[in-house]
Amino acid sequence: MAYDRFARPIHYLRISLTDHCNLRCIYCMPENMTFRPSAELLQDEEIFRLTRLFAKLGFDKIRLTGGEPTVRANVVEIVRQIASTPGIRSVTMTTNGILLKRLARPLAEAGLQRVNISLDTLNPIKFKRLTRWGDVEDVWEGILAAEEAGLTPIKINAVVVRGYNEEDVVDLARLSLNHPWQIRFIEMMPFGGATDLQIGQMVTSEEVRKRIEAALGTLEPLLDGQLDGEARLYRLPNAAGDLGFISSVSAPFCAACTRARLTADGVLRMCLLREYEINLLKPLRQGASDEDLRQLILNAIWNKPWGHGLAEGEIARNRTMSQIGG
Ligand code: 5AD
Ligand code: SF4
Repeated sequence: MAYDRFARPIHYLRISLTDHCNLRCIYCMPENMTFRPSAELLQDEEIFRLTRLFAKLGFDKIRLTGGEPTVRANVVEIVRQIASTPGIRSVTMTTNGILLKRLARPLAEAGLQRVNISLDTLNPIKFKRLTRWGDVEDVWEGILAAEEAGLTPIKINAVVVRGYNEEDVVDLARLSLNHPWQIRFIEMMPFGGATDLQIGQMVTSEEVRKRIEAALGTLEPLLDGQLDGEARLYRLPNAAGDLGFISSVSAPFCAACTRARLTADGVLRMCLLREYEINLLKPLRQGASDEDLRQLILNAIWNKPWGHGLAEGEIARNRTMSQIGG
């Protein structure tokens, strides 16, 4: 197991398969976003080599992200290879769900264990306004296909944006009454690309929780109010599923962070909200040995930033969310 200098064990790698996306969510990227040419992204074999190296360093948990990971060519084969890498115990994915109707089953058969699906509102008009391009019906069918394929427990991610969907949190929360899903409300975080909106229209978990309680009754805290990963969990009375609140901005969970991120262009990013990065693609293509790469990775882990500096007004603007992978 690899530890950073604050003695946090780092064993969870989020791999972005592409910076491309079939949506244009307003809090993620500008509508005229430009993407990297495929040749500048990690190729399949490069991803597998790095995955083996990370697994040897004790990484056991992989999450595939994007942009939108399902638009990556060969995504099913990539999942199969990663899932069969010795040492890797779980492979999950964060997706917008648009393509899951077709891909849920093949992905599950290739070894994907679970999915987190982004869904900010059930209202088709508001969904289009938030994603610029999306049809909420595609996501709904994707969720059902994922459940059918056994990619469970299903987690739904909703980013809450003032003026767009803060009133829709009640309908989303209501989904947990009849479905054994975890509906998670995420505080919007500031990055490059859409920084003014991200700062100006952020809604706190506290406000979301109050809105839900006012409409649906008092929430029962689960796990004695302790964090489950990054989320604080609650349940509505007699609900089949849970509600989660991810308060990255108002209550950072940096102290318990075990993550590293590999961007689609082969850069190791040790904190979502810090600009600190280590390029692995360049040395890899210049012929670095496994040992060279191992040293670069260990060094990056050691220097993982303690946490973000949002409270001090420090914002990492060198990438959009889609260029990191969330
Ligand atoms: N703040 C918080 N979450 C975000 N996501 C995208 N942009 C932001 C942001 N600025 C979410 C997506 C998806 C996951 C990859 O990250 O909605 O659920
Ligand atoms: Fe695409 Fe996800 Fe960004 Fe939306 S949040 S534009 S679905 S990468």
